[in-house]
Amino acid sequence: MATGASLTDGGASPLRSAVGGTVPRIRLRGIRKRFGSVDALRGVDLELFPSECLGLVGDNAAGKSTLTKIISGTYIPDAGTIEIDGEVVRLTGPADARGRNIEMVFQDLSLCDHIDVVGNLFLGRERTRGPFLDRARMLAEGRQMLDALEIRIPKLTTRVAQLSGGQRQAIAIARAASFRPKVLIMDEPTSALAVAEVEAVLHLINRVKASGVSVILITHRLQDLFRVCDRIAVMYEGTKVAERAIENTDLEDLVKLIVGQGTLQ
Ligand SMILES: Nc1ncnc2c1ncn2[C@@H]1O[C@H](COP(=O)(O)OP(=O)(O)OP(=O)(O)O)[C@@H](O)[C@H]1O
Ligand SMILES: [Mg+2]
Repeated sequence: MATGASLTDGGASPLRSAVGGTVPRIRLRGIRKRFGSVDALRGVDLELFPSECLGLVGDNAAGKSTLTKIISGTYIPDAGTIEIDGEVVRLTGPADARGRNIEMVFQDLSLCDHIDVVGNLFLGRERTRGPFLDRARMLAEGRQMLDALEIRIPKLTTRVAQLSGGQRQAIAIARAASFRPKVLIMDEPTSALAVAEVEAVLHLINRVKASGVSVILITHRLQDLFRVCDRIAVMYEGTKVAERAIENTDLEDLVKLIVGQGTLQ
């Protein structure tokens, strides 16, 4: 179980840190980001603890993707601080974040459709033997990567364009997980999936979490949150308006918060 699940402070981070003495994996303070005239983030504080799954919810344009892209080094904030394991850092880009064990699976997955499964798993870090690609090694290691997460894809030589949405999502998650992240961010991993595929991805998230990874899950499918999350943070128009331990909230409460009618906490 995640560290926070036994606390009954509704997810209020300062109390939690003080009580548990747990250093957050990620701590954001006063994060601001503007795009031209759009105030995408207006001073957001957020904490992510070891081995927890934090659900990040909010209406369209609330700022969820922008906030997580800041954690994954894709965007540089205009103001605010980022701490990783208690140390203030200035992320210079996605490679810097990856070097600090932060991975993100983007809304559009960033897979290459025209190459095969194994090619996608090893994109940018192909195994070679002398001047040649070591396909046999990549196929063996690729199979291990998928097996570790119980992902069943019969042939690693299938082009990704021929796979289902759920299989594509699983490959993107397996690729991210293979970098051995401490923090894995998933932006709407189930939004385009059929029911059985959603189940498979939720199981996958639980397996990743069980391996000690801290997960941030962005989703509009609120019912999914209750299957995998320990805490929920709600964004509204660029501000974090609430944080709750999962056991201290329900669908009705969340919907109110998302549309800006909830009790702030
Ligand atoms: N690269 C960008 N350039 C300009 N504006 C941007 C950019 N990225 C985000 N925005 C704006 O910032 C605001 C927050 O967008 P963001 O994508 O973070 O929202 P979101 O909560 O992820 O929404 P959704 O649920 O629709 O994915 C929106 O008004 C959006 O138009
Ligand atoms: Mg988004």
